[in-house]
Amino acid sequence: MTHESLPTVSVPAFAKINLSLEVVGRRPDGYHELRTVFQTVSLADTLHFSRLETSDIRLECDRPELATDERNLVVRAARALQAAAGVTRGAAIRLEKRIPMEAGLGGGSSDAGATLLALRRLWNATVPDETLLGIAASLGADVPFFLYGGTALGTGRGDIIEPLPDVEVPVLLLVNPKVAVPTAPVFRSLNMPLTSPEPSRIFIAFPPEGDARTVFVNDLEVPVFRDFPVVGRVRETLVEAGATVARMSGSGSTVFGFFENAAAGATAENALAEHGWRVWSCRSVSRAEYAERVGRL
Ligand code: C5P
Repeated sequence: MTHESLPTVSVPAFAKINLSLEVVGRRPDGYHELRTVFQTVSLADTLHFSRLETSDIRLECDRPELATDERNLVVRAARALQAAAGVTRGAAIRLEKRIPMEAGLGGGSSDAGATLLALRRLWNATVPDETLLGIAASLGADVPFFLYGGTALGTGRGDIIEPLPDVEVPVLLLVNPKVAVPTAPVFRSLNMPLTSPEPSRIFIAFPPEGDARTVFVNDLEVPVFRDFPVVGRVRETLVEAGATVARMSGSGSTVFGFFENAAAGATAENALAEHGWRVWSCRSVSRAEYAERVGRL
C-alpha cells in the first residue's frame, strides 16, 4: 500500500507574537517566571501528515539546515504522543518552513503544537487534554500555547495557559533584521536574583484600555537592544513609519508593529524593506480560526 492511499492531513502552524512579556522572577529550576500575552498571527509553516501502518516517524523539511531526526520538535512531539496514547501507527511528515528561526516567533513550538493536534486526529488517539498539555510543556515552554492559539495569558514558564478574549489586529508587520538571537543567554543576562513574583501590570491593564503603548511591554527589550542594537533600530523605524504599537516579540529578533489600516501598513512595509530587513505583512489569528484550521484541545 502506498502513502497516498492512507489518510492525509495538512495544517498551518501559525507564528506567535508576545503582545506583552513581563519577567517577574527567576525560578530555582533555572527558568524565569513570566506573565505574557501570546497572540497567533497569520505567518505560518505548513505541515503535511500521512498515516503509516508501521510505527516509523519520518520527517522531511524544505530547509536543509534543520535537523529531521529526534532533535526536531516535530519528531519529539510525534514520538511522545505515540508513547502516551499507545499508538502503533506512524506518520510521514513534510514540513514547509516559512517562520524564521531564533526569531521570537515560536516557529518550532508551533510546529510541535500543530503536530500534537493533527496526529491525535489522524491516529484517532484517545489522550486526555491534560496529557497533551503535559507533553507540550515537556517539549518547550511555548508549546502549550499552540494547543489553544488566539489570544492567551501565559504564566509560570509561559506554559500555564489561560485563554483571553481575542485581540483583533487586522494590519500588522513583522520585521526581522536577519540576526538570530538565542533565547537562553538573553534571560541569563537579566541577572535576576531568585525572586518572588511582583504584582503584574498585565492583570491590571489587559485587555487593553487607554494608551496601548503602556500596555504592550517586553522586559527582554533592554538586554536585546543593548547586545543587538539593530533590533532596537527596527523598533524605532517602525514607530517612525507610523506604527501605533511596536514591540519586540519574545527574545527577538523580530519586532512587530500595528498599523491603522492597510494603506499605512503598505507604506511602512516599503520603508522597512529598504533597510534590507525581512518584512511580513500579516494579521492576528483568532482562537476560533485556529481551532478550525489547526485543531482544538
Ligand atoms: O523552553 P524552551 O526550551 O523554549 O526555553 C529556552 C530557554 O529560554 C530555556 O532554556 C531558558 O534558558 C530560557 N527561558 C527562561 N524562562 C522561561 C522560558 C525560557 O529562562 N520562562
